[in-house]
Amino acid sequence: MVQQSESKHGMWSSRLMFIFAAAGSAVGLGNIWRFPYLAGENGGGAFVLAYLACIALIGLPILISEILLGRAGRQSPINAMVQLADVSKVSRNWQVIGWMGALAGFMILSFYAVIAGWAMAYVLEMMSGRFVGVDPAQAAASFETFISDPAQVVAWQTGFMILTIAIAARGVGRGLEVTVRYLMPALFFLLVALVIYSGVTSGRFVDGLAFLFQPDFERFDSSSLITAMGQAFFTLSLGMGAIMAYGAYMPKGSSIVGTAATIAVLDTSVALMSGLVIFPLVFANGLESSAGPGLMFITLPIAFGQMTGGQVFGTAFFVLVSFAAITSSISLLEPAVAWVVEKTSLGRVKAASLVGGVAWLLGLGSALSFNLGADWTLPNGFNFFDTMDYVSNNILLPLGGILIAVFAGWRLSGETLQEQMQEDQGALILWRFLTRYLAPVGVLIVFIVTIF
Ligand code: PFF
Repeated sequence: MVQQSESKHGMWSSRLMFIFAAAGSAVGLGNIWRFPYLAGENGGGAFVLAYLACIALIGLPILISEILLGRAGRQSPINAMVQLADVSKVSRNWQVIGWMGALAGFMILSFYAVIAGWAMAYVLEMMSGRFVGVDPAQAAASFETFISDPAQVVAWQTGFMILTIAIAARGVGRGLEVTVRYLMPALFFLLVALVIYSGVTSGRFVDGLAFLFQPDFERFDSSSLITAMGQAFFTLSLGMGAIMAYGAYMPKGSSIVGTAATIAVLDTSVALMSGLVIFPLVFANGLESSAGPGLMFITLPIAFGQMTGGQVFGTAFFVLVSFAAITSSISLLEPAVAWVVEKTSLGRVKAASLVGGVAWLLGLGSALSFNLGADWTLPNGFNFFDTMDYVSNNILLPLGGILIAVFAGWRLSGETLQEQMQEDQGALILWRFLTRYLAPVGVLIVFIVTIF
């Protein structure tokens, strides 16, 4: 097939900008909010070990596949899959990858905006100094009061969605790229500063390190395994076409394997560094490492409240989280926005508003899960928010991942593959083995172990 050199939606101006954008998508609430509390709940080092294995053996080959398919298709994931299926002379049903991805994207964005809204609210809370010297009960009460007020939670969720839509509406170059160009370096700088602050002021850096790397297998079970795998997909933004959409705007002529490895290393470093910000503070203040989703919003403010400079660094921390969330949410929107632009006569502004509006509406269910809708639960106790989180991360993303791996590994035309992997001949065999066998079988095994 003759590769289209440009996407009609625009292009990243360089390989580095693609790395910023994809790392921006990958680095998010998953790294700073979700990873530390999951590690805290599932045996620290044991969870980290399983997570790292999933990243290297399953995540990385699928990340490469998504970039490759995106760059080969140069369109929204749904249309790219139709085109690649035609070129490869296989059934057009493979476009289901694009459709499932769009569905998962809506589901994730809907609850993502709620948590991101909390983080933005906490920038102001921290800045106000209200956490200085608080005790655990006060910090918990403060968080409870905040999330049980539907008006506040919905207002912040709405604000975050408007920001996301506004950036997406400006397009690939003026919206997405401008955002990641500034926010990614800022994010990295803030994170390094916070790791140093946390280590120095708490004096417990080594304990944080030990917690992340010393396995405690007693608290690790088969459900921890699927959680680790779901987290690997979630954190690398895999299985739903976000990276495929971004890959469509990647210039030709650079190595996909090298680029993907850089993204995975950056993402993993941010997760581990977030752990190194959070756990030393938690331990120094005698707090619980397994506090669950409240770890960032209750435990951490208590810790900052006890430390010198906590008000400033606490504020910086929530700025960091908000930046990370924005550079991810724009990628959650992109596959559907690109598709609407391709399929209809709507421009980007209307497409972004439409898609974002639907995600916002769905998100109201999650926003209300902590207050008015706290009683709307499934028999297993999951509320709306838990259900969205579980179904998208632990089921839809891994399933999408298997399909992507099978398509890229087994069905994609050899010619297209060669064209995209020109710069990666040395890694081709290993990628092929991992993508054909290890990644799909690995995901299946984790599914089976979890079910039984
Ligand atoms: N990777 C993001 C995070 O770790 O917060 C979340 C995410 C973004 C998941 C984009 C999926 C996605 F397509």
